[in-house]
Amino acid sequence: MSALRFVNKVALVTGGANGIGKATALAFARQGARVVVSDMNTVDGQSSVREINELTQSKNAIFLPCDVSSYSQVQKLIDGTLRAFGRLDCAFNNAGIEGAQGSLADQSNEAFDRVIDVNLRGVWNCMKLEIGVMLKQSGGGSIVNCSSIAGLVGFTGIAPYVASKHAVLGLTRAAALDYAKSGIRINSVHPGVIRTAMIDRFTGGSREAEIMFENATPMGRMGKPEEIANTVLFLASDEASFLTGQPITVDGGWTA
Ligand code: NAI
Repeated sequence: MSALRFVNKVALVTGGANGIGKATALAFARQGARVVVSDMNTVDGQSSVREINELTQSKNAIFLPCDVSSYSQVQKLIDGTLRAFGRLDCAFNNAGIEGAQGSLADQSNEAFDRVIDVNLRGVWNCMKLEIGVMLKQSGGGSIVNCSSIAGLVGFTGIAPYVASKHAVLGLTRAAALDYAKSGIRINSVHPGVIRTAMIDRFTGGSREAEIMFENATPMGRMGKPEEIANTVLFLASDEASFLTGQPITVDGGWTA
């Protein structure tokens, strides 16, 4: 039997109450990590932790609330992580929102601000404080930021989201270079269409809209949250020890 990859490691997952974040938190826990599941949705976050601990027959996961757009809340999250587990080895900065739909000039400034505050400033806030911890501890660390295929190519009707996800790739590349010599690797994952509540909000539950997404994906289906989780774990693990500053796309061929 192969050894668990994250024994004695501490992983933080933002937006861990649902979807891709929840699947990734479970995957970390299954591989032996102690996991901080963080989210601004406390009800779903606590139930995500209960489910992870049941499935792994452990108490390795805890919930800490945080709206990533607030620097002071992220500060409390990192303090809480250190109080609970003493260190931080892996961080998946995943919390994100899709924002409103509509052509650029029809979108409100407030809607733009919120998408940028969560998707871009949230990653900034988290990275700043995660890196601070990783620099001080032995062994460095690994950070994975959640971008999107909308961080690589344009999409109509969601300009603020597209801009925020392109910016996440820019932050990832720049930070990777800043800390390449410090034992901290920083990469981004770029999911295609993954079946989560976010996609349900886009399709409004309409089967026709789902079929449109499936047909636009060369593999002919939506991805599963676990398929992103597997990639995040690889990036966070020592198997990716020479990999930094890279966008890794997991999209069933969408951008091929
Ligand atoms: P989801 O909506 O199912 O889950 C997102 C989670 O983030 C929720 O639990 C929500 O409460 C939390 N969240 C939202 N704003 C937050 C904030 N300010 N602070 C803390 N938590 C917050 O969405 P999904 O699909 O799991 O998305 C996760 C990430 O993957 C997002 O960054 C999204 O942009 C990205 N993504 C998703 C794709 C998809 O097809 N589902 C495709 C490409 C990227």
